[in-house]
Amino acid sequence: MGAGAFPGSGGPFGERAGVVRSRPLLLPGRHWLNFVVVLACIALSMRVIGVPHTEGVLWLTVQSVLAGLLGIHLVMAIGGADMPVVVSMLNSYSGWAASAAGFMLSNDLLIITGALVGSSGAILSYIMCRAMNRSFLSVIFGGFGTEEGAVPARGATEQQGEVVPISAEETAALLSDAGSIIIVPGYGMAVAHAQHPLYEVAEWLRQRRKQVRFAIHPVAGRLPGHMNVLLAEAKVPYDIVLEMEEINEDFPETDVVLVIGANDIVNPGALDDPSSPIYGMPVLEVWKAKTTVVMKRSMASGYAGVENPLFFKENTRMLFGDAKKNVEAILMALRSERGARAAE
Ligand code: TAP
Repeated sequence: MGAGAFPGSGGPFGERAGVVRSRPLLLPGRHWLNFVVVLACIALSMRVIGVPHTEGVLWLTVQSVLAGLLGIHLVMAIGGADMPVVVSMLNSYSGWAASAAGFMLSNDLLIITGALVGSSGAILSYIMCRAMNRSFLSVIFGGFGTEEGAVPARGATEQQGEVVPISAEETAALLSDAGSIIIVPGYGMAVAHAQHPLYEVAEWLRQRRKQVRFAIHPVAGRLPGHMNVLLAEAKVPYDIVLEMEEINEDFPETDVVLVIGANDIVNPGALDDPSSPIYGMPVLEVWKAKTTVVMKRSMASGYAGVENPLFFKENTRMLFGDAKKNVEAILMALRSERGARAAE
């Protein structure tokens, strides 16, 4: 397990570093290939027992190389969008490997710590699979169930329409005029540390009797609960922070949605583009609101590396720049007389 998990980790690393392609590698008959390698590894484990030391080391080396190739192959069969689950699974495998080593060395501490790492990684992978509507078994067995040769196309990178930019002052005016507002935070909010000024914007609006709520996608950011922790740190009240299933139906009745540093979790392609690598993942349907303001620095894609058709929708406005600076600019505009007057 350890010999498979270590080289396998090179896949997600290379993919994040941009040196490995993020499309899944689906070799013909790959499940049989994996099966044969697993059998070979088991057979080689048996050869190690009761033979002279040098021979044992030789078989162990061959087995480790085969396990390493198996690890790489299992991981490479998973698309870039599902990599978070793979990373968590590899983490889990490393725990099980440590636990197994604990059994061999009769070391209780290693058994217990390994089992804790292994089981927490497995639980985390399961939670992420459910949130992304992916099959847990499919991830464990290296993309089992993905059609042979049906490599999901990466989202089109060409321009899909016109992008309408908006300024921080115009966004403030929109918020001032709105009755209901939903804020959708994502990884960019965490990077920019924008949660504190965002809390102040939310408070300013709430004091003027506007309905302000936060919508949290289960895989927003880079950890489960990432956004909840940041918002709690900024003292945003729990009762206005809602999970995706609690709030997704409210977007059509919402005046303004503020998407702050989020991308994949608000990608309509996940629902209507079968060729998208994130197809099937439930997303926050922000495009159904009257106006959606997306705050990010550029037109760059998110973690899954796919283009987002949301940016080109008629009711979408793009507020480019660092999230924290822009939220501060919105706050300043709201606090200015113009903003206060508009709110009245
Ligand atoms: P992403 O899809 O990664 O999008 C984040 C966006 O934030 C980027 O498009 C980026 O655009 C923008 N951004 C970055 N820095 C910024 C800054 N300083 N100011 C303003 N914008 C900034 O994030 P998401 O929507 O939260 O989705 C999460 C993704 O991560 C999913 O694909 C999910 O599968 C994956 N993932 C999740 C987890 C868990 S468990 N939550 C773990 C690992 C991976 P610009 O570069 O244009 O600014």
